[in-house]
Amino acid sequence: MESIPLLRYMVEAGLGARRQVVAAIKVGRVAVNGKQAESYTMPVYPQADRITFDGKPVSFHARARIVLMLNKPLNLLTTTSDDRGRQTVLDILPAEYRGLGLYPVGRLDHDTTGLLLLTNDGNLTYRLTHPRFELGKEYLVHIEATLSRQEKDLLEKGVLLDDGATAPAGVKEVNYEPPYNYSITIHEGRNRQVRRMFAHLGYTVKALKRVRMGNLRLGDLAEGSFRRLSVQEIASALRQHKQ
Ligand code: URA
Repeated sequence: MESIPLLRYMVEAGLGARRQVVAAIKVGRVAVNGKQAESYTMPVYPQADRITFDGKPVSFHARARIVLMLNKPLNLLTTTSDDRGRQTVLDILPAEYRGLGLYPVGRLDHDTTGLLLLTNDGNLTYRLTHPRFELGKEYLVHIEATLSRQEKDLLEKGVLLDDGATAPAGVKEVNYEPPYNYSITIHEGRNRQVRRMFAHLGYTVKALKRVRMGNLRLGDLAEGSFRRLSVQEIASALRQHKQ
């Protein structure tokens, strides 16, 4: 029988993303065979050890990893539930995808469309969202203006927003999907970042759509549709960074 690190056990059992699990172990909420776990690297035997979280047994039934790519329509919240009863991205999935612990990887604004991943895999979420990995996210933008050379340079080099200067970005003029007239690739994930970058130059973003995360492309997936990613696509998403 093989042992695995406690952290991996907890993440694969669906108890949260790595950072949350590490924090829970550090504050003593996890016990192995009745003894408080001292380190998240400690080896555990999934079939033999009794792991508890806040005193409740953790069941580890090698849950299938699911990764869905959704083309998010307008007016859906990127959360798993809303206390004001508004529709979330999970509400548009068929019933068979409920109760599997799926949640969105990162977030898109209510008024943004496009590529959103949903998964029950905390490790994948960590690798795709932690700033350390600098995953490139490409957005199509519609503004009612043409950027000057200086404005494009500014966006690319970094603009000073309320929460600090933005990291280098890539900006291109595009015409393949009207009404979008620019594409911008950023490597950060700050709140409403793209809208705020354009607002900094005095432009209102009229429509915003994410089309790529790393080398995962939305392609021709219709708005409101989703598809399950293959093992190869997931592996490739994990391999590359900084694109
Ligand atoms: N930047 C934004 O302004 N909004 C999003 O939804 C994503 C990136």
